[in-house]
Amino acid sequence: MALGSRTTKTMTAADARLRLVDQLRSQGWITRPEVAAAFTAVPRHLFAPTGTSIESAYANDVVVTRRGSDGKATSSISAPWLQAHMVETAGLTPGARVLEIGSGGYNAALIAEVVGPTGTVVSVDIDAQVVTHAQQALERAGYPQVEVVHADGVHGHLADGLWDAVLVTVEASDLPPAWTDQLAPAGRLVVPLRMRGNTRCLTLHSAGDHLAATASLQCGFVAMQGHGRNPARRVPLRGDDAVLTLDDDTTATNAEALRAALDGPRVEVASTVTLDETNMDTIESLHLWLASQPRPYGVLRVDRDRTAGLLNPQDRFFCPTLLTSDSLAYLTMDRHDTTTWQLGGHGFGPYAPKLTGDLMELTVAWDQQYRAGGGPDITVHPAGTRLPDTERMRLLVPRRHTLTAITWPETHH
Ligand SMILES: C[S@@+](CC[C@H](N)C(=O)[O-])C[C@H]1O[C@@H](n2cnc3c(N)ncnc32)[C@H](O)[C@@H]1O
Repeated sequence: MALGSRTTKTMTAADARLRLVDQLRSQGWITRPEVAAAFTAVPRHLFAPTGTSIESAYANDVVVTRRGSDGKATSSISAPWLQAHMVETAGLTPGARVLEIGSGGYNAALIAEVVGPTGTVVSVDIDAQVVTHAQQALERAGYPQVEVVHADGVHGHLADGLWDAVLVTVEASDLPPAWTDQLAPAGRLVVPLRMRGNTRCLTLHSAGDHLAATASLQCGFVAMQGHGRNPARRVPLRGDDAVLTLDDDTTATNAEALRAALDGPRVEVASTVTLDETNMDTIESLHLWLASQPRPYGVLRVDRDRTAGLLNPQDRFFCPTLLTSDSLAYLTMDRHDTTTWQLGGHGFGPYAPKLTGDLMELTVAWDQQYRAGGGPDITVHPAGTRLPDTERMRLLVPRRHTLTAITWPETHH
């Protein structure tokens, strides 16, 4: 009886916080004691919508707080693992001055804990309701010192001095000048940047005339609104159940022909490349490698249940896809044996055999030459910069304010 009542007891918020911190530590997301202390102290559930259970508030997952008329999330409390990564790599110290773009309150409270009473935290959000909610929740949770500003974050926020860190918590396709202009020379800019449809949370620091990334992590964030709004092109292949995202001006496709291609036979190929639990995270670099090729490319997102039997991509949110105007080939990953998975490809349309063959060749090249290297160098330059010619494989992502370069290490044969 006593045992039964113990196992069914609802978890307290404090217990749930400790469990979350243990989880984030054991998975390697938290390494710094001050970040662990912040996650232990801030009551995440007070920032969640009314009615959110303690279990959901402290699951290692995103909590959606607001949706647009189309049902898509426009605001959320980001997943703890991602917040831990951002706060850790921002290198915050007591007394630091930090600007957050995109509010909610919880992340700002974590930052406030780390920078302490001598630090400064300002959070900017474009949505007045988010601002009001964040202000109220911060007050309730005991962080009245955090200032929440209602404005478009592309302008940053001018205050008494430069920022030691700018943390952007909304997907950006470009870096507006204010974010770097307002950053202290040794400051860090942590930003989820979309590059050819692949969003990576980059930790950037100044390297003379450009910024260089010291960390890059695959992630998804709600889309930027306001002046920085720049959604990628969407090609629905089966309504919203299978959508191809095109994020460059050079990839031209015939949406009708691609939709029709899915009615035809599926070409299936397998590579010799395998992954296991210990190196599964290298797949992020394969995605960028495939995106780096000078050829038509898109990112496929599917509803697995609703497209079962038709599509089975390696990743349901961000699957790399090679294209012609009427054919496509996406990456697959199937169980090989009890511990490993095998990479392959599925193709549709008249060029499916060629595209799947190319996909496998590129996957093998990545495995043999680039996989062990820990991913490419990512640098961000002012728009219009002429970078020196290089023999190295490089993807350039030109945007209005910046030119991002994804450069693959030299290989020795
Ligand atoms: C993922 S939420 C922020 C999460 C939050 N930092 C937390 O504590 O977890 C993204 C926020 O960015 C906001 N946003 C979108 N575009 C913006 C812009 N141009 N300037 C400022 N905020 C923006 C949205 O209104 C939304 O509240």
